[in-house]
Order: sequence, then C-alpha cells, then structure tokens
Amino acid sequence: MKVALITGITGQDGSYISELLLDQGYEVHGIVRRVALEYPEHRMWRIRHLLDRLQLHPASLESYPSLFKVIQRVQPNECYHLAAQSYVSYSFEDEFSTMNANVNGTHYMLSAIREAAPNCRFYFAGSSEMFGKVREVPQNEDTPFHPRSAYGISKVAGYELTRNYREAYGLFMLSGILYNHESPRRGFEFVTRKITSHVARIKNGQATEVRLGNLDAKRDWGHARDYVRAMWLMLQQDTPEDYVVSTGESHSVREFADLAFRTVGLNYEDHVRIDQNLIRPAEVDILCGDATKSKEKLNWEHSTSFEELVGEMVEADMKASEDGSLVTNGP
Ligand code: GDD
Repeated sequence: MKVALITGITGQDGSYISELLLDQGYEVHGIVRRVALEYPEHRMWRIRHLLDRLQLHPASLESYPSLFKVIQRVQPNECYHLAAQSYVSYSFEDEFSTMNANVNGTHYMLSAIREAAPNCRFYFAGSSEMFGKVREVPQNEDTPFHPRSAYGISKVAGYELTRNYREAYGLFMLSGILYNHESPRRGFEFVTRKITSHVARIKNGQATEVRLGNLDAKRDWGHARDYVRAMWLMLQQDTPEDYVVSTGESHSVREFADLAFRTVGLNYEDHVRIDQNLIRPAEVDILCGDATKSKEKLNWEHSTSFEELVGEMVEADMKASEDGSLVTNGP
C-alpha cells in the first residue's frame, strides 16, 4: 500500500487530494497544527467526513525537527506540500510571516525528506502568481517569472528550491504551477467565494451588498477537484518535471460577479460596491495558462467549465445559507 503525506490537509486542496488518494487505496497522513487537533470541529470542516480514514500528526512548518520526526516516522512514498500562507492580500500586510512560512517551511520539508525519506516523491504547490506582471499571454512552463507580491516571491523561491534539490541531489521533486482553482470549499477571503457567499446571503435577505476591489483583474479559474488530479498524475510519471495546470480561459472578476448574481436572478450592479481599500498595491492584471504540456504528458484536462464552477459554488452557498450553515461552516 502506498503511503502519502500531505501538508495543508485541512485546506481546500488538501481535502480534495485526500479523497482522491483514499479512493486509490493510499494510506493517507496529514500534518496539522496542534491547535487544529484541539479544535477539530472548527478547523477541520473540510475533512470532517474523512477523519476516521486519515492519520493526522501535529507539527509546525516553522519547526524543522517537528517535520523531520513526522517524515521519519511515516516514511511516505509521496508528499504533497500544500501548506502555505496562500492569501495574496495578506502578504502585503505581513510580508515577513508570509516569507517565513512559505520559504522556510518549504526548505525544511525538502531538507527533511532528503535526510529522512530520500525515495519520497515530492510535490510543491507553485502558483501562477509567480508570473505576476506577465511577459506573454498565455503563460507556459518557459515563461519568465515577475512576481508582484511577497506571496508570489515566496512561491518563486519555493519553486527554485525544489528545482535545485532535484538537480543537486537527484531527488524526485517537482512543482505544479497551478492557476486559480476554486470550489464550494474555498476560503471566504478569496474573491470567488466572497462573491458566491454574498450572492446567497443577499438573495436570502441576510445582506444587501458586497464590497470588492479591482473588478477588471482577469484570472484563469478552474475547479480544485480537477487540479488535484493533475498533482497526483505529476508524481506518477517516470521523471520529475514542472507543469502548468490551467483551463486556458480567462475571465474578469466582473464577469464572475455578473454570472454569479445572474444565476439567482439578480443584477451585480445593484449590489457590488467598490472599496478602494481592497485594491492591491501591486496587482496581477491577467493570468491565462497554456496547459499543453499537462495535456500531452499527463493526459490531463479540466472537466469543469467556468459556468459550471460558478453554478456549483452559488448552488452550494444558497443551500448553506438556507439551512443556516453558511456562516458557521467556514474558517
Ligand atoms: N480576495 C479578494 N477580495 N480579491 C478581490 C476582491 C476582494 O474583495 N476584489 C477584487 N479582487 C481581485 C484581486 O485583486 C485579484 O485580482 C482577484 O480578485 C483574485 O483574488 P483572490 O481570489 O484573492 O486570488 P489570487 O488570484 O490573488 O490568488 C489565488 O490564486 C493563486 C493562483 O493564481 C490564491 O489561491 C493563491 O494562493 C494562488 O496561488
């Protein structure tokens, strides 16, 4: 039986990759903060339905010895390093903790695997935010990086560390360069979930407006369930390589809001207010990925369209708002 270790297992992607790996018959282990184990109801809502099939270990990305001990004990065949400070806006408020968690945390994981489980295959969650002020549209694995935030810089550093461990020590370590991927399990701070949760609350009379920042930013939005499949496929290949994972379609925040409000028969212009405080000091204007390599080498393709994604998220939030779980099932 293959053994997998996941960091960030309580997050959106952690929950979907856990389901995929359990379905494939893996023994699945997760690294979680001690506080999550103490408050499982609050911190583990995304993996609550899996808890009796997962083995969770308390450790901190800030502590090399704690990560080393778990890796040595678990001896994973595959490791999915998904944990990060992943909210771009927050990285402007606290650049230092974003860099510490994302760069050192990744470095500790790489080093601990090299020392304690060198045959383990390692996935690093790279990001399209690494392309930042894009040099070309669409972007592929050869497009130069130009990150626009401490978050983007931390992901470039993690990507380069992973590449260097692969090249210097001959380890099976790679990065997925994933574009925005969403779902009903998305955190409420990200724009898609912020919009769909407000659409539901506005429709049900629990709110009247939603405050947003830049409506003209364009993103290549896919479904997280599709994207974790690509992560897994990358680690099943003969050689470790980096891959772009995207839909190849770009839509503005305005288009997302327009469609989400229309789904319940409302006009976004009646409910969206622009809040200048939500405009980022440096914005990534457009992201659009070219996933040709993933299609050709991994035989991967996204299966959920933009319209289906918006529909699924609105429907889930409508249901949650009606049964009263919308405000309590989040982080
Ligand atoms: N969060 C947020 N809140 N974003 C807003 C808002 C708002 O009220 N109003 C407009 N936006 C715009 C942001 O300025 C950005 O251009 C876009 O909506 C998307 O923002 P997020 O949903 O916060 O995601 P992100 O694109 O910054 O980053 C996400 O995708 C990356 C991959 O490209 C995150 O998941 C990252 O962790 C991930 O690496």
